[in-house]
Amino acid sequence: MVDRHFSVLNLAELYDYFSHWQVSPQDDFYLDLVMGARSVLDVGCGTGKIQRVARERGHTGRLVGLDPADAMLEVGRRDRGDVEWVLGDLVAGPYEGEAELLGDGAFDLVIMSGHAFQVFLGDEDVRANLAAVRRILAPGGRFVFETRNPAVRGWQAWSPERVRTVDGPGGRKATCVHRLREVAGELVTFTSDYSVEGWAEPETVRSTLRFLDAERLNAFLAEAGLEVSAQYGYWDRSPLTDSSEEIITFARPA
Ligand SMILES: C[S@@+](CC[C@H](N)C(=O)[O-])C[C@H]1O[C@@H](n2cnc3c(N)ncnc32)[C@H](O)[C@@H]1O
Repeated sequence: MVDRHFSVLNLAELYDYFSHWQVSPQDDFYLDLVMGARSVLDVGCGTGKIQRVARERGHTGRLVGLDPADAMLEVGRRDRGDVEWVLGDLVAGPYEGEAELLGDGAFDLVIMSGHAFQVFLGDEDVRANLAAVRRILAPGGRFVFETRNPAVRGWQAWSPERVRTVDGPGGRKATCVHRLREVAGELVTFTSDYSVEGWAEPETVRSTLRFLDAERLNAFLAEAGLEVSAQYGYWDRSPLTDSSEEIITFARPA
């Protein structure tokens, strides 16, 4: 089930205020890859900012954003109608319309940004999604995604001392506070409290993310018939080490 910050429109509308363009170096990293590929699928695209900016910068090929949360897609759709917004997921396919939208071998590049990969909690979920990536990649295509490195325990920073405040919709102040709730093996559960000036009360969302280490991740990729061609620890393409924040992976059909 999709977390409420993605499925409820007034929360989805906050996403781009907190995660605006270039809030992270991931945006330029992925944009560069997208601009160099003819057909691109962004899985868990959310509001689809990378695809939207790619189109704005003159990408003329196929740009598809796939997400199971219609509220997130609606935010993207309002901004640009010239990206293909597909409600669905890799395993079930499009929830409406033709399965052919995600046909075999259809994409030169598949990306998963914003740590979207970490929403796959169970082994079967990981396996089924990676198998689908393998199926939809064209020969010679690339799958590029990142997941947070569990070795650095980034969740320790998800504490109420760190309040994020931004100018939200209509210039109203919006705040977000995370609280770590549970660390159970690879699964980390936290809550996020959102408030916006004018709201009667804050909205609280509970989320769980999976933190896979590189060894386990690479085993799942190999099982799905995907070969790792490069792996980095940060967006500057520095090597992956135990203290790297990210595990950024380039994989291709084996
Ligand atoms: C943190 S957001 C990332 C959005 C975007 N990729 C970015 O870089 O800003 C995670 C997204 O994953 C989506 N998601 C949740 N479950 C999913 C699934 N099973 N398959 C694909 N995407 C999923 C959510 O709806 C949400 O939009």
